[in-house]
Amino acid sequence: MRFKIIRTIIAVCALAPAFVLPASGCGTEPSVFPSAAPSPAETDVPSVITKEWDPGELLMADFTLYNVDCGSVSETSFPEGTSRGLCQSVSDQPYGKDPVTEAVWGYREDPSVLREEDSLGEGFTVSKWVIDKETTDPNQTSICYDFQVPEGNYTVTLGFFNPFGVRKIDVDCEGRKRISGEKILRYSTNEKEFDVSVSDGELNLKVYNSAANTFMETPILSYIKIAKEPEYTRELLAAAVEAMSGVNTDDYTSESAEAYLSSLEKAKTYLAKESNKGSASIKLKFKDLRESYKMLTKKYKYDSFRPGEVWTDTEGTPVQAHGGQVQQMEIPDPDTGKTVTKWVWVGEDKTHGYRGGVCAYTSDDLYNWHYEGIIMRNVPSRRSLEKEEYFKSLYAGYTDAQLDDVALALDAERAVIERPKLIYNEKNKQYVLWFHADGPTATSDSNYAAACAGVAVSDTPFGPYRFVGRYRLNTCPPDQEDKHPQSRGMARDMNLFRDTDGTAYIIYSSEENLTLYISKLNDDYTYLATPPEQAVYGKDFIRLFPGAQREAPALFLKDGKYYLMTSGCTGWAPNQARYYMADSVMGEWVSYGDPCIGDEKHTTFDSQSTCIFQDPATGTWIYMGDRWFSDKLNDSRYIWLPISFTDKGEMRIGFVSEWTLK
Ligand code: GAL
Repeated sequence: MRFKIIRTIIAVCALAPAFVLPASGCGTEPSVFPSAAPSPAETDVPSVITKEWDPGELLMADFTLYNVDCGSVSETSFPEGTSRGLCQSVSDQPYGKDPVTEAVWGYREDPSVLREEDSLGEGFTVSKWVIDKETTDPNQTSICYDFQVPEGNYTVTLGFFNPFGVRKIDVDCEGRKRISGEKILRYSTNEKEFDVSVSDGELNLKVYNSAANTFMETPILSYIKIAKEPEYTRELLAAAVEAMSGVNTDDYTSESAEAYLSSLEKAKTYLAKESNKGSASIKLKFKDLRESYKMLTKKYKYDSFRPGEVWTDTEGTPVQAHGGQVQQMEIPDPDTGKTVTKWVWVGEDKTHGYRGGVCAYTSDDLYNWHYEGIIMRNVPSRRSLEKEEYFKSLYAGYTDAQLDDVALALDAERAVIERPKLIYNEKNKQYVLWFHADGPTATSDSNYAAACAGVAVSDTPFGPYRFVGRYRLNTCPPDQEDKHPQSRGMARDMNLFRDTDGTAYIIYSSEENLTLYISKLNDDYTYLATPPEQAVYGKDFIRLFPGAQREAPALFLKDGKYYLMTSGCTGWAPNQARYYMADSVMGEWVSYGDPCIGDEKHTTFDSQSTCIFQDPATGTWIYMGDRWFSDKLNDSRYIWLPISFTDKGEMRIGFVSEWTLK
């Protein structure tokens, strides 16, 4: 084994150009480097690099003079986009003249330092130096490199990819210990950095482990980057502004784009001024610009649905729109004021867990969602309604009693806001938000004691929505069997449906979730068409499947048939879906059973329905469900699946791990 690896090293050396060690080599600093080092020979290369690079050139190279892929023999080992360094033309070499740049640099050959490949590594971490395990001489457990550099200050970055046990690393450079006993963790790329000043024309580096007793603790080294500290001049800043301008910020997340634009602006403003505050100020501007440019983060673009995977918005933040609804809407473009057609997704904000407000997102393609913000906030305290500007202007004109209602229904500490659904009222040009408004009551501490339907309104699609009220709804007529007579008019899991004639309905679980109800809304869509006391059964509302215990309703109309998808009632745990069909909303609903195919666990593919809608462009019907994670509700996932229909109009849903609209 050992013999074989030594042969590899000899082969590497044979490829490299002839080399000689200069007087200032690794072996000339007895206080730092081992005395067993080979004695340096004379060199015919200049002892100091006098070359000067212009600011633009340095900038393009990211100020990198050397970027060594330790122990590599392959010239293609440089990851795309990395600068090889202005002094370096090959990925690694034994100490000597660089074949192209003529700078003198490289590793000190040592029979106990071996090249090794790493199948787990990537880019600069595929190859590395390790110490031969048969080496017993503690003086021979170091990896030495020397680099010819112009006089100046440098940042040295060392990379250690460690597929072995944890070990510690020491690094000496320019006669001083720079890194002392730092832990190199297992299975990860550890990067260490330090600054050093070089005055003798050569940067000498020694990587070792002073505490190593066994070979498993000896050092490793994957890459070395040596970057020159820039000279902070106006020219440098001007070169940076030129090189880093012209970015199409639309392609990047707004946070990173804003930081970049602000530092670019500051640099430009500085350069436009006559006065020069000096290098410290330039350094600050330059560093800001360079850092924010490097931190520009591309927006992730989806081109498919991946049910159950984390789904992020265009800013890279996981979408928070649980128990939600997606619909196409004509909304005003915030920039131009013109009406545009957008997909709108509203849902529960579970960023902080169980309790939160309502979020909205928009999309052009259903894959990529732009965050529109929290459209209805919950209320931190009764006081905040009169103190916080947001609430003060929203609830201007509310009486004290009304404010009490708002504080109770939207209480951030106690209220439960679930399954929000949005509907646009053409007549009033008003957006109406309905939701399951729950929480404790005067007589019960239960989170689901109120069992009400809540309503909030706004003149704009993305709010802020103003809470109007929360209500118990219709009750079981006296000639029918009420499944929960002790608490009447309950409304929990809910949805909305607007029929072709503009009449809107609320569909919800009532009678302690034992019976579904469908109730007609008034023309404003803000309350029932008829108050419960006067409501007529069959005209104003109907009860569905008393005692069947269905919730999570999603109603839609297709080819003249009305469909109602539902789940059972098992809290956050998924259960078997069941759907019904009817010829009209208030008609006879007939059960068609579970639409899922291949759902062996009978858990609706571990999801619970929340909305079903059609993409008119492709004709695709989409099932939208929630995969709740009760221990970590904010990480709950979205299960969107394509629906197919049989000749008889029966619904079929199969699981696909990735799919597109066709
Ligand atoms: C489910 C319901 C959810 C949520 C949950 C709480 O049955 O569909 O919206 O209320 O219970 O356990």
